[in-house]
Amino acid sequence: MEEWEAAKKRIAFALDGMTPLEARGWIRRLCPWVGVFKVGLELFVQGGKDAVRAVQEEGALCFLDLKLHDIPETVGRAVARAKELGARWVTVHALSGEEALRRAKEGGGSHLQVLAVTLLTSLSSSDAKAMVGDSLGAWMERLVGVGMRAGIDGWVCSGEELSTLRRVVGPRAFVVVPGIRLPGDPLGDQHRVATPKLAIAKGADLIVLGRSVRNAPQPEEVLRRVVEEVALALKGCG
Ligand code: C5P
Repeated sequence: MEEWEAAKKRIAFALDGMTPLEARGWIRRLCPWVGVFKVGLELFVQGGKDAVRAVQEEGALCFLDLKLHDIPETVGRAVARAKELGARWVTVHALSGEEALRRAKEGGGSHLQVLAVTLLTSLSSSDAKAMVGDSLGAWMERLVGVGMRAGIDGWVCSGEELSTLRRVVGPRAFVVVPGIRLPGDPLGDQHRVATPKLAIAKGADLIVLGRSVRNAPQPEEVLRRVVEEVALALKGCG
C-alpha cells in the first residue's frame, strides 16, 4: 500500500481535450491512481480557477501548466496570481530569459514552485538545427544554465534529455517528464518519448500522461500498469 501511494505521487494526468465538467469526472475517476492533475492552457482558458479548485476538492495536487513566456513583469505577476489559486507547480518557458525566471520565482514561494520548461517534447533535432543551429542537447544545456542562474525550483524536460539534465542540475532538483508512452502507444505529435519505467529509473520525480490514458479503452487498466511499473522502478528493480 505504501508503495502504491509512493508511485501515485509520481503520476500526473493531463486534463487536456475536455470541458471543465468532463475534467471533474476524470479527476474523480482517476484519483485512486493519480496524485497530480495537470491543468494546461486549454482547460485553464475554459475553466480558469474552478479547474484548479476541482483538483483540490478531490485531495490531489494541481500542476498549472501555463507555460508562461512573456516579459519579466508580466510573468512575475501572473505567477503571483497563480499562487493565490493554490496550485503546487506552475510552468514558465526557460526561453523567457533569466530575469523573467527570477521574477517568476519571486512571484511563487514555498507553496507554489516554478518549473522551467526547457524544450517541448514535440520539438525534433531538425527544429533545433533550424531554430538555433545546434543539437537539442546543447540547446537544453544553455536553457538549464539560464534557469540555474535564476534559482528556479525545478524543470520540465523529455525522457531523452533527462540524463543530461540530471547531470547538470544534480540529484535533488525536481524534474517533471511529459511525453510518456507505454510500449506500442501512438506518439501523436510527441517526438521524444519515454516509458514510465524508463523515465522514473532515469530520475524523473513526476511523469505526465495524457493521451495514453485518455484515449485508452480502459484508462484505469492503463494506470494500474503505470502504477505497478513506477513502483518497481522506485524499488530499483524496473
Ligand atoms: O497526451 P500527451 O501524453 O502527449 O500529453 C502531453 C502533455 O504534456 C500536454 O498537456 C502537453 O502540454 C504537456 N507537455 C509536453 N511537453 C513539454 C511540457 C508539457 O508535452 N515539454
